[in-house]
Amino acid sequence: MSKSNDFNDENSNHSANPTFDTILEQRLNRRGFLGMSLSGAAVLASTGLGLTACSSGESVSNSLTTPAPSSSPSPTPATPLNPIMASLGFAAVAKSTLDKVVIPAGYSYQIIYALGDPLTANTAAFKNDGTDGDFENRAGDHHDGMEYFGLDSAGKPSATASDRALLAMNHEATTDEIKSSFFLFGNGGTSTLPRPAAEVDKEVAIHGLSVVEIKASNRKWATVQASNFNRRVTPLTEVEIAGPARGNALLKTKYSPDGTKTRGTINNCGTGKSPWGTFLSGEENWSGYFFRLATDDAARNDKSVVAMKRYGRNAGAASRHGWETGGSEDKYARWNISKLGTSADGSDDYRNEMNGQGYIIEMDAYDKTKSLKKRTALGRFAHESAAFGIAVVGKPLTVYLGDDSRNEYMYKFVSKALWSAADANPADRMATGDKYLNEGTLYVAKFNADGTGEWIELSLNNPLIKNYTAYTFADQADICVNTRLAGDAVGATKMDRPEWGGVHPVTGEYYQTLTNNSNRDVNAASGSKLVPDSANPRAYADVDGKKGTGNPNGHILRTKEGATVGAFSWDVYVFAAEADADKAMINLSNLTDDQDMSSPDGLVFSPSTGICWIQTDDGAYTDVTNCMMLAAIPGKVGDGANKTLSYTKADGSKLDVATKVGAAPAADKLKRFLVGPKDCEITGFCETPDGKAIFINIQHPGETTKMADIADPSKYTSQWPSNAGYGAGKRPRSATIVITKDDGGRIGS
Ligand code: FEO
Ligand code: CA
Ligand code: CA
Repeated sequence: MSKSNDFNDENSNHSANPTFDTILEQRLNRRGFLGMSLSGAAVLASTGLGLTACSSGESVSNSLTTPAPSSSPSPTPATPLNPIMASLGFAAVAKSTLDKVVIPAGYSYQIIYALGDPLTANTAAFKNDGTDGDFENRAGDHHDGMEYFGLDSAGKPSATASDRALLAMNHEATTDEIKSSFFLFGNGGTSTLPRPAAEVDKEVAIHGLSVVEIKASNRKWATVQASNFNRRVTPLTEVEIAGPARGNALLKTKYSPDGTKTRGTINNCGTGKSPWGTFLSGEENWSGYFFRLATDDAARNDKSVVAMKRYGRNAGAASRHGWETGGSEDKYARWNISKLGTSADGSDDYRNEMNGQGYIIEMDAYDKTKSLKKRTALGRFAHESAAFGIAVVGKPLTVYLGDDSRNEYMYKFVSKALWSAADANPADRMATGDKYLNEGTLYVAKFNADGTGEWIELSLNNPLIKNYTAYTFADQADICVNTRLAGDAVGATKMDRPEWGGVHPVTGEYYQTLTNNSNRDVNAASGSKLVPDSANPRAYADVDGKKGTGNPNGHILRTKEGATVGAFSWDVYVFAAEADADKAMINLSNLTDDQDMSSPDGLVFSPSTGICWIQTDDGAYTDVTNCMMLAAIPGKVGDGANKTLSYTKADGSKLDVATKVGAAPAADKLKRFLVGPKDCEITGFCETPDGKAIFINIQHPGETTKMADIADPSKYTSQWPSNAGYGAGKRPRSATIVITKDDGGRIGS
């Protein structure tokens, strides 16, 4: 999602924790870090990557010291791993403001799946003039996170198929200026309330998920329009509530009086692929789709008012598109979450409807007869990706999670069930999801100034939660639904917007993008402004261009599990910055013109090459470049140095913030690989198991186009992909592209 319509920037964490002043005092009393103890941290098993024979002539990296193999059995990667790449072989692309996709010499790309593309044999070609309908049978809008599910020639799941697959993806949102998704309507639609039912129906249908079959021949990819695997999930699809909150009072609605179901999934951003082969999707900025009456606090008069505020829905909050005004039918009424009924439990209205959104939702991409399930054990917040730690037989599974709003937290879930190799190929994938994702322990991260951290358990076992006075938790379901409040209770660390994360396939270390935070302020005294801290140490002003303040460019933090499940160490892999920015206070990672970036957002490790792909969703550097994707071969926690940032506050006093900066990336270890067309963000990444084709999404090109200019294509800020020869009309469309190397080699080599 863009910065211009920034529902990401929701800002509802006004909790007093953590005690930043205390942390700062501690920090100011030290000289830098106490030296991070990394011994005894060999919780991570070896990956089984080994050093397989290198048949491709590429060098194999063994510079990362993996912990010695323990006596535990070998882990079982979900897909076969090829030799990890030791250096990046392509020539970096320059920053660009052109309305086109720019990729390195020797590579080609194809557009294969854009907004409106048909998903059945009987669906009409997309006209792209605002008259198209039947979006339940077409690609949705704002393509986002995406995963690859291989198919063999018989159409069975395959972990090695590199020429036939299902792409499962999120359709996060749609391009709007005021209420209306204007590119979908001939005249731009209705930007006032009430919204016509037909407009609402079309807008709802372009949200959700899609599954589409793709096939390749000689590196030419195309979707299979008539495939029986093709599927749409929309905000109206019936889905199951699973895990601790299933059947809980907080989930009871007129639609599901027993609290076991809800409809659909919305604002899906990051993704994950489970070790048992299912698609996981994070519900991110769902709160903005709901409407609350100004009188609703008084009508509720209970603790749910606290929860509503903490999740960004104050009484009187308007909804993003006004879908609640589409008519009296239930499918419109559900978007009004005011207490309107007389029941005690909410079974006669939609006061609890918002509690049905905000989860990691699981889908079996291979089987459209299976219901989707919301995995409530993983908590409820503005979810991004679900990144699995390296699966080790006989050990619990770990899933890393971020909450993308300003000042929100990082989480991990640890399964109760221990990983079994047989589950990599289960007969029933959704039942396997039940096994691993319905029971376990949820933790939230607290960063210490000495470079260590704590994963704090979120359960009633924790006295800080049991005795929390700002919100009384009834049970574990309440913690799963109101996870942010539980994080507040334990003093979790407020972060600079945790976006996607990924796990390094060799070290097992977790990389978390922190995309930006305008709330960082050296002079912060109270409220939502925060002084910089060790894990979020920068607060500065962009001296030219966009004039952003706080942490306008973001950073990528990484964590390494400690000796116990509750311990970790951390450093900052890279500080995003403009190359010409001050190297003492801003460009701390010494980024060059080939490496500089702003607002890292998507982050995915290639299972095949080990490359860390970094994607931006930026509004701070767009005076110089469109959003981009970079390839990285990072090191490991602790490979850099301690650094103290010395600030002078407005009153003349000093503020020293100690942080831990990863080794500056060498020229062949971090390079810009792609720049997108105008007004887009780059998001979603998956690849063929052989690493020779990668799929990414170009989301919302032309998004700052004015609705009033709908009749004049020359005023669209982008005409991609039609200007690249794809499809009818000139209205810009979100789309999936596939990139291959002209010599048939692995991507990045
Ligand atoms: Fe959908 Fe937080 O980006
Ligand atoms: Ca600038
Ligand atoms: Ca994003």
